[in-house]
Amino acid sequence: FRDYNIVLLGQGGVGKSALLVRFTTGRFIHEYDPTLELTYDMCYEVDEEPAVLHITDTASANEPVYLSQNEGFIVVYAIDEPRTFQTAKQLIKLIRELKKQRGQHTAIVLVGNKVDLNHSRSVSNKEALEFASEYECYFHETSAANNINVKVVFQDAVRQLRLY
Ligand code: GTP
Ligand code: MG
Repeated sequence: FRDYNIVLLGQGGVGKSALLVRFTTGRFIHEYDPTLELTYDMCYEVDEEPAVLHITDTASANEPVYLSQNEGFIVVYAIDEPRTFQTAKQLIKLIRELKKQRGQHTAIVLVGNKVDLNHSRSVSNKEALEFASEYECYFHETSAANNINVKVVFQDAVRQLRLY
């Protein structure tokens, strides 16, 4: 089966680990635990075709290291923290630039997490969607807390990589 190297990127506290834990275990982690670095390996069926996923959960501080080693990127921001959206946009521009130079194919899924905090939303769905389509990214708003749209994020990363 084909292997997929996927990395979760984004500013500290946006919910990267919570999304991965929800995806892999079905549970939600309440406590804040800044991640060091961890890769989960798992078999997962997408569109009735098995895939071997290697998903790296990063510490917020040292993203550039991961850019060259991966083909699939899940770039996360929190819809209630505008600065995290700015960081996500910068990361996506950087990934596109770097991969273009090297002629490498990439999949990027932009993720607006914490959609359960819609009452304190400060990044609109529209502006994120516009950015995503400009940079040819898939886009989803998710909640690791309420289990909204979590699986489709990982499925779409695989789907986009299968286009190549
Ligand atoms: P670093 O590892 O430091 O880079 O952070 P992270 O991006 O992995 O964030 P983490 O998953 O640790 O989540 C940070 C905090 O946000 C935790 O307290 C989580 O419980 C909370 N959190 C994560 N996802 C959600 C969500 O969908 N909704 C809400 N309300 N809180 C969330
Ligand atoms: Mg983490």
